Amino acid sequence: MISGKTRVLGVIGHPVEHTSSPAMHNAALAALGLDYVYTAFAVRPENLGQAIAGMRALQICGLNVTVPHKVGVMALLDEVSPEARAIGAVNTIDHREGRLIGHNTDAYGIMQSLRLDGGLETLPSRVALLGAGGAARAILYALLQRPEVEHIALFNRTPEKAAALAVTLDPECKRVQPGVLDASSSDLLRDTGLLINATAIGMYPHPDASPLLDPACLHPGMVVLDIVYNPLETLLLRQARQAGARPVDGLGMLARQGARAFAIWTGVEPPVEVMRAAALERLAKAAS
Ligand code: ATR
Repeated sequence: MISGKTRVLGVIGHPVEHTSSPAMHNAALAALGLDYVYTAFAVRPENLGQAIAGMRALQICGLNVTVPHKVGVMALLDEVSPEARAIGAVNTIDHREGRLIGHNTDAYGIMQSLRLDGGLETLPSRVALLGAGGAARAILYALLQRPEVEHIALFNRTPEKAAALAVTLDPECKRVQPGVLDASSSDLLRDTGLLINATAIGMYPHPDASPLLDPACLHPGMVVLDIVYNPLETLLLRQARQAGARPVDGLGMLARQGARAFAIWTGVEPPVEVMRAAALERLAKAAS
């Protein structure tokens, strides 16, 4: 029951109608019996400053931040975690003792998913990352935190963006090798133990697309994680499964970055499986 004591959480973005965050977080809050409610606020870019002032005035406990506000919101906060600063984006705001503190939980989400959904306690020495947008940046940051990762091939349709991203996080490009994502990429992927797709290729409404023009580079012993989760089994993950590689869908990362935000706000570790199931149910409903 919502009462006068119920605390408020939410997500700000534009658009936000299709977000699965309210389903995930409210399911976890209900499972734990915590007196919070999580809702979605559509905030136009020109109103972001007022929205953050409103968060202070209304004493909203915590917010997730999604497109297009992840970068712009940083200047409006009292503090930004070193991790979020390095990634250059905030996806979680914690309202703590009157101060707004920005976090980024995406790097944590991907690492937890690789460990728990992909079975990778340690990462392979050679990794391939596809994409150079906001998601790829958080993932590249996370990979570079791991000393066992010696080489990261970073492929993108627009190679200039891959080169710019590589230099930002690995200034001397000692471990990151940027390149173009095209028919020649597959050949360069044969000796990688982990392939991560951080592009939008294969996402609804284009489920017949794969970032790999030639899936012959996929092999048993390889882990393939796709951040796309709609459809849940993308063409890339199907190709991975058929090649004997271990496919990891994007819902694990989504649920785990959400779980981290939940723990920051409430101090309680949520049931990740409940969050994942709620997101899946939300996707299924949206599709029907
Ligand atoms: P996000 O925040 O989810 O990472 P983004 O910043 O818009 O979103 O980045 C989208 C990524 O998917 C980029 O790497 C983009 O490639 P470009 O930098 O060349 O635009 C990639 N992407 C999206 N659609 C693509 C397509 N049809 N083919 C190849 N790459 C695509």
